[in-house]
Amino acid sequence: MKGVILAGGLGTRLMPCTKVTNKHLLPVYDKPMIYYPLETMVDAGLEDIMIVTGGNYAGDFLRLLGNGREFGLKDISYTYQEGEGGIADALKLAENFVDEDKVFVMLGDNLIEDNIKKYIHEFEKKDSGAHIFLKEVNDPERFGVAEVDGGKVINIEEKPKKPKSNYAVTGLYMYDNDVFKIIKKLKPSGRGEYEITDVNNEYIKRQKMTYTVLKGWWTDAGTFGSLFRASNLIADKLNKGQ
Ligand code: DAU
Repeated sequence: MKGVILAGGLGTRLMPCTKVTNKHLLPVYDKPMIYYPLETMVDAGLEDIMIVTGGNYAGDFLRLLGNGREFGLKDISYTYQEGEGGIADALKLAENFVDEDKVFVMLGDNLIEDNIKKYIHEFEKKDSGAHIFLKEVNDPERFGVAEVDGGKVINIEEKPKKPKSNYAVTGLYMYDNDVFKIIKKLKPSGRGEYEITDVNNEYIKRQKMTYTVLKGWWTDAGTFGSLFRASNLIADKLNKGQ
């Protein structure tokens, strides 16, 4: 299984901080944001990891992370997304890297408490399909929202005005190799982006989607409110450990 961290986009919701750096290099408590998804992948046992980035500060990822030795990796692969075509557009760039394999994808602004090693192992045993991670939230309208029935996800709506549940679709996804064929057939959404929600709905349509409700906390860090929350969660975790 390959790991891909998506760290492109312009981070406009964090302006003016993102005028002079990439969103994923901003601090979450005591470390740059990108460290957290990278550590999640390494802790889950993934060894082949690619970072997709973009914008004006892509070179800074190399300066910060180098070949990944600090994280116990042999190397890290990097690629560059031109523009801000959406999450599925960024994932498309990892096609050659993933090759014939399956892929675990994590958004670069997502942080989790849980260790996902066991879910990755289970997914590796499957022949095909996709798997998403849900979490109950108080503000589902900010996210992709999953409608769940009888242990199955039956639909996902991207940032619905009237959410059908409190289950946010977190930015952690596992796909078989068909994901790249599915992405190539996508059409841009109303906001002009290639949406990961459209990819996930295609797997649901094919009855190939499973899910897990994440244990422990989950947060994104793409707005000032959620960035603050993320820093507090990490601070609490570190204080508990002392
Ligand atoms: O955090 C989970 C949510 O992430 C999901 O519930 C939504 O379904 C999903 O669409 C996404 O929503 P956001 O509006 O928060 O996504 P955002 O545009 O902030 O992008 C999240 C990350 O994806 C970002 O930190 C880097 C990566 N990305 C995004 C875009 C638009 C790219 O690499 N390239 C891009 O072009």
